Amino acid sequence: MLERTLSSRRGNPHGEGDDDVGVNGDESKTKKQQHILFRFTNRASTYFSRTLGFGGLYVPCVAIALLLLLAFSFIFTSRGFVCISSSSFYRPASRAAFFGLDGLDSDFGVLGVPCCRSKHGKTVEWTSKDLLKGLEEFVPIYETRPIKNNMYGMGFDHSFGLWFMARWLKPDLMIESGAFKGHSTWVLRQAMPDTRIISLSPRHPEKYLKKGPAYVDGNCTYYAGKDFVDFGSVDWPKVMSKHGITDLSRVLIFFDDHQNELKRIEQALKAGFRHLVFEDNYDTGTGDHYSLRQICDQVYIRGGGHSCFKDSDEARIRSRRKQFWEKAVDMEELCGPGEAWWGVRGYMRDNFNHSNKPISYAQHFQNSRYVESILDVYWELPPVAGPSLTHQTRYDPARAPNPVVEDGRYGLFQRLGLAKLDKSVFNGYTQMVYLQISEQ
Ligand SMILES: C[S@@+](CC[C@H](N)C(=O)[O-])C[C@H]1O[C@@H](n2cnc3c(N)ncnc32)[C@H](O)[C@@H]1O
Repeated sequence: MLERTLSSRRGNPHGEGDDDVGVNGDESKTKKQQHILFRFTNRASTYFSRTLGFGGLYVPCVAIALLLLLAFSFIFTSRGFVCISSSSFYRPASRAAFFGLDGLDSDFGVLGVPCCRSKHGKTVEWTSKDLLKGLEEFVPIYETRPIKNNMYGMGFDHSFGLWFMARWLKPDLMIESGAFKGHSTWVLRQAMPDTRIISLSPRHPEKYLKKGPAYVDGNCTYYAGKDFVDFGSVDWPKVMSKHGITDLSRVLIFFDDHQNELKRIEQALKAGFRHLVFEDNYDTGTGDHYSLRQICDQVYIRGGGHSCFKDSDEARIRSRRKQFWEKAVDMEELCGPGEAWWGVRGYMRDNFNHSNKPISYAQHFQNSRYVESILDVYWELPPVAGPSLTHQTRYDPARAPNPVVEDGRYGLFQRLGLAKLDKSVFNGYTQMVYLQISEQ
């Protein structure tokens, strides 16, 4: 599926499988209108040619009339594409003019979507159709969430991704590192109502209850507050045997603790875990910890590597995009001393950026080789919907895969119930990633 996502970046990832969630009929009203107008111009031209013939002044008149009709047709049909947003950042009409694109989904991935290559090119079992079906099911669940405003925690896209993957993989045990007020614990619980959860977080979610909404789960073992232990220091064989877990490939680990993901992978591998989800998979040049995306962003990867050349096309595109997307990075931000573009300006961040170590390109390259040597699957959750629908202004679509619900498909967006959600819930997308580690 990843391969398909990458190779069909400009195509429709839903293929012909959309029908199950009532996609038919949404297939762009604008397209239908265009079709009718084209038919009308054709008929007009036939009429003119029949009644007036092709000679004399009539030919240029007919040509001008047809051109005018086509121009009206274009303006009329393009109106649906223009997004009205209260944000000063997001102006898709001018974006389209800048990039000479159609202002729809076409700028998803234009700056490249780096990814980690898995050893045998294996990918996930689920398809875009499954994601659409999942969305239909998840929206009403999300509306019942106890923590309505989860600022600093997961928004809609990642909540959906975590729920979808947990429900699909059906683990015997779920472990989360980084609980905050407990929203992600609640999401895991919605996916697997009877499965044990282990939650590691320095502050117990119950502490937040004093100030407002929080979620504390009844079937969860908390290593939190005074009982907090970092994931890397837990005696996992002991904990697993306590919970009766013999098959570690039946355990799902969810990391939202803003720690260096290379460190977390090494710890998970040592313990024998094989299914990992990282909530914040920050893009190169962004974020407070070294992420999978950063690790695998290498010059040989499609969309990977950056020249730091200030007069390059990339530099121009990046600086323009900065005006529209809060998380877009221009060359100034991307490139550190010595044109170091990897990680964040040549640094490997850790622990909410409390640790920040420089790394050489050779070391960075080795890190990607190591990660790719142990990976069976790398899958990035796509954004749930395009920005003209969600009105998100943070992540730059130029560095993201095509969304599940593409721009222009407002009917589908509405039918899925997504239009009812506050637009702020769509602002937290940071390329959540699922990894399957090979059997060691
Ligand atoms: C972004 S929040 C988690 C949000 C939460 N998953 C949600 O969706 O609402 C990050 C959390 O990681 C916790 N944290 C910090 N260091 C940690 C560590 N070493 N291990 C586990 N959690 C940690 C923080 O206290 C904070 O609660």
